[in-house]
Amino acid sequence: MQYSQKVLDHFMKPHNLGKLENANAEATEGSPACGDQVSIWLQVNDETQIIEDIGFLSYGCASNIATASIITDMAKGKTIDEAKALSWKEAAEELDGLPPVKMHCSVLAVDTLRKAIKNYELSHKLITEDKAGLSKERVLAELATILYPKVGEDLISLKMVKYVGVDENGIVTVDIDLPKFDQFRGNIADEVKEHLEKLPDVKEVHVNL
Ligand code: FES
Repeated sequence: MQYSQKVLDHFMKPHNLGKLENANAEATEGSPACGDQVSIWLQVNDETQIIEDIGFLSYGCASNIATASIITDMAKGKTIDEAKALSWKEAAEELDGLPPVKMHCSVLAVDTLRKAIKNYELSHKLITEDKAGLSKERVLAELATILYPKVGEDLISLKMVKYVGVDENGIVTVDIDLPKFDQFRGNIADEVKEHLEKLPDVKEVHVNL
């Protein structure tokens, strides 16, 4: 697997490594794709909402360590709104690219940053927990975070999702268009289930390939 020099540099000498003792927000997220975990701590200035300090610990692979390193660099000095807008694609670009099968590692790092910001917003009453409940839009938004490993693009951008159904009992049905011989069929089905089962109000998920 070919890694860029930047990925190797950030993996060998990660920036912002370690837990912040004076953090006022934190989050730990796991990747449904591989089971690895990342924790991020933030120290946000309550007046300006600027992220003044940030730290991370990764129990993931080289790509994940490198992405967590670069995304924490990118977030430091930004307001929480600016940092929320950072995407895994920008992080991967900043690293001069990642192998397609490793794109999910950057999604994990960026999701953890967003979750830490959300936890800050919740604890400071800047937002309230989303009570909107389950909707097709919510399911589609979640599917847009799942990558097809072969090319490192998400299922929605690749137009692989053919149907999404959500009924009033919390039963979600998703039809995905994948060739019968595709090596990632099982992996995609598991990942879609794991992602959707954690949405609020979901009782059952059916994935048809
Ligand atoms: Fe698990 Fe990269 S984070 S394989």
